[in-house]
Amino acid sequence: SIETVLKRSSSSHVVRRSFGSEPSPDRKVTVLGAAGGIGQPLALLMKLNPLVSKLALYDIAATPGVAADVSHINTRSEVKGYMGDDQLGEALEGSDVVIIPAGVPRKPGMTRDDLFNINAGIVKSLCTAIAKYCPNAVINMISNPVNSTVPIAAEVFKKAGTYDEKKLFGVTTLDVVRARTFYAGKAGVNVADVDVPVVGGHAGITILPLFSQATPRGSNLSDEEITALTKRTQDGGTEVVEAKAGKGSATLSMAYAGAVFANACLKGLNGVPDIVECSYVQSTITELPFFASKVRLGKNGVEEVLGLGNLTDFEKQGLENLKSELQSSIEKGIKFANA
Ligand code: NAD
Ligand code: LMR
Repeated sequence: SIETVLKRSSSSHVVRRSFGSEPSPDRKVTVLGAAGGIGQPLALLMKLNPLVSKLALYDIAATPGVAADVSHINTRSEVKGYMGDDQLGEALEGSDVVIIPAGVPRKPGMTRDDLFNINAGIVKSLCTAIAKYCPNAVINMISNPVNSTVPIAAEVFKKAGTYDEKKLFGVTTLDVVRARTFYAGKAGVNVADVDVPVVGGHAGITILPLFSQATPRGSNLSDEEITALTKRTQDGGTEVVEAKAGKGSATLSMAYAGAVFANACLKGLNGVPDIVECSYVQSTITELPFFASKVRLGKNGVEEVLGLGNLTDFEKQGLENLKSELQSSIEKGIKFANA
């Protein structure tokens, strides 16, 4: 079969060319926190991504086992595990995309901001290493509180003289994934076809799904139904934290969301046109210096931060309500990084 020919060919790019498509370029992806609840399934999903040629799995412990395990899967990327400070540089060197799910997760009763004291320090030290070893990489920040860890990363990079606002992303894809699932269930549309922009930030009321822009349109939902869908999306993380009852927060759905977002970044880097995802980035579409909205991805990371579109009165109110919390989370991150 053609597939066998492609697999067996020692110069497969020649064979592929004859079918009209260019081979995808070499891309190294590094996962920091790769032995964790998110890190392990994310490592698996990135190993399945044919756009990845090298997969570097870093954590403070347990990465040799995770890397040995994942490396046996017969897909394109070469997998290596790295453990401890001494090996962080090597894990990062030459990386095109660095995904960061390192840090502690919530337990019931905690807010994401309660993670700040531990995770801010972890993110600061990892970003210091990124500035040194792969200053041009695209960063996918998953560690919470995202509303603060992204500004921390920006400050660390600014101090190192490596900051490129086009390459720093807070991963809010899980909010979009949840909004799609919950909307499809209520509006009676095929869940695989649904899209819903989610803007603002990634904590409580700063998560603002724009159901008025959901596509395709399903059955008309009442104001009460939209209010309930909005609240469920905002509390989606807490729903999982409570169900896990002390054993952490979302890991599997987050690994899926992280893999979707990283894939979009890789496609953008490879020059695939019209790649649009919501993400928390440096922004001028509101008065807040960081804000999540639809972003067009390209060869340099952010190609364009897209606007909010038309908002309903309910969404306008949600936008006003989130600004002070988001602003103070941003300021908290900046202050920490400069302390
Ligand atoms: P986890 O505790 O299962 O895994 C975290 C991993 O990070 C561990 O393996 C730990 O060893 C590692 N780690 C700690 N310090 C490190 C360091 N200095 N360098 C490298 N690795 C380090 O937690 P988890 O469930 O995987 O969650 C990780 C983070 O992701 C949490 O902060 C959580 O709140 C966040 N999260 C974000 C989203 C989102 O939508 N952005 C979704 C879910 C979870
Ligand atoms: C999520 O949205 O699931 C994550 O941010 C984890 C959490 O603490 O809720």
